Amino acid sequence: MKFVTSAVAALSLATCTTSAFLPSLTQRNAPQTTELFASRKPFISGNWKLNPQTREEAITLATEISEGITSASPESDVALFVPYVFIESTMNACDGKYFVGAEGVCPEMKGAFTGAVSASMLNSIGVQWALAGHSERRVIFGESDEYINGQVLKLLDMGMSCMLCIGESLAEYEQNLVGSVCAVQLKKDLAGVSKEQMSRVAIAYEPVWAIGTGKVATPETAQNVHKTCRAVLAEMFDDDVADSTRILYGGSVTPDSIDELMAQEDIDGVLVGGASLDSTKFNRIINFQA
Ligand code: PGA
Repeated sequence: MKFVTSAVAALSLATCTTSAFLPSLTQRNAPQTTELFASRKPFISGNWKLNPQTREEAITLATEISEGITSASPESDVALFVPYVFIESTMNACDGKYFVGAEGVCPEMKGAFTGAVSASMLNSIGVQWALAGHSERRVIFGESDEYINGQVLKLLDMGMSCMLCIGESLAEYEQNLVGSVCAVQLKKDLAGVSKEQMSRVAIAYEPVWAIGTGKVATPETAQNVHKTCRAVLAEMFDDDVADSTRILYGGSVTPDSIDELMAQEDIDGVLVGGASLDSTKFNRIINFQA
């Protein structure tokens, strides 16, 4: 975590009642400044996947998570990526304390795509963030790098923000292919994205072998991969983009692993699956100590 509060960020935060409340949360669809992103503000996010099972449970969980964000919490962006049907209820329950994002988006804007949800639909209800490239979407739903690139471009063209997930499989990890797999995914998934648009992109490095398995990558391993990803971004864009893009770690993050992960220079936050469904655990992760 390398968090240098810039002048613009300091000014924005000074207007907030508590450290984690961003003005942008109360201004729907307000563009976020490059300066704020350039500071690599910590970013703690949760991915609910196909959970919970009812709107009531979603509201209870969303409310408990909002209660865990206080004026004593670290200066961070917090986001929950939730099932489409729970987005508006979760927004109502979040008390303006965190972003509520979508778990995906269709690269097409309209037409005969049964079951799909467009960036325009999400934007119209105040959604700013969406996931793209999660390994479960790649593996179970067969989403290709080309499809993921379409999602990224559509979100960015709509003025929205995207959390792009990348990461290697166990077999690739065992064959020492981590760096090359991440480089290929970054290059394919971010093709056609401009330097300016990169201020609205966050990367989540999630080794597939660590997702939902209880096997968290060591902080040193994650740090090394994040550093490699930054070098790829420098090659694709420039040093400024490489230095200002937030790179999160995901894969079995828990209250036990959060502090050490956040202490790594190139780890700017986390994407949390299982532990984001337990408000006690997720609130401890939000209130990390580094
Ligand atoms: P996990 O999931 O924390 O349950 O491993 C992470 C993710 O899939 O984003």
